[in-house]
Amino acid sequence: MDAELDAVKVVIGTNRYGRPVEGLVVGPLDSGEWVAYVNRCCHHPVPLDSRPGETWIDGAKQELVCAAHGARYRMKDGVCTAGPCPGEALVPLRLERRGTEMWVEPPLTSVLHSLR
Ligand code: FES
Repeated sequence: MDAELDAVKVVIGTNRYGRPVEGLVVGPLDSGEWVAYVNRCCHHPVPLDSRPGETWIDGAKQELVCAAHGARYRMKDGVCTAGPCPGEALVPLRLERRGTEMWVEPPLTSVLHSLR
């Protein structure tokens, strides 16, 4: 049986105002790999799931969808394929598997502090 696609949010640090910044860990993709991105839309600096209760994974389970204005990001590389910011990409996060656990490497402080 194939594993069900899942998306988990984790706090990866704080921005320059001391507000928490979340990452999204998504997987397993069709390839079996997991990916992680900063949970911040390229269009406006809001989380992709800024509207509670709205799903952020498209029905085909290939894209992440921003709840605010519908930007669609390919899960495998975070590139926006449709919506108000085509060609831009989510900030990737490095993942490391340690035994049965998945660890997310926070981005550099300079990257975190560049986020609003
Ligand atoms: S804020 Fe994400 S599409 Fe506009």
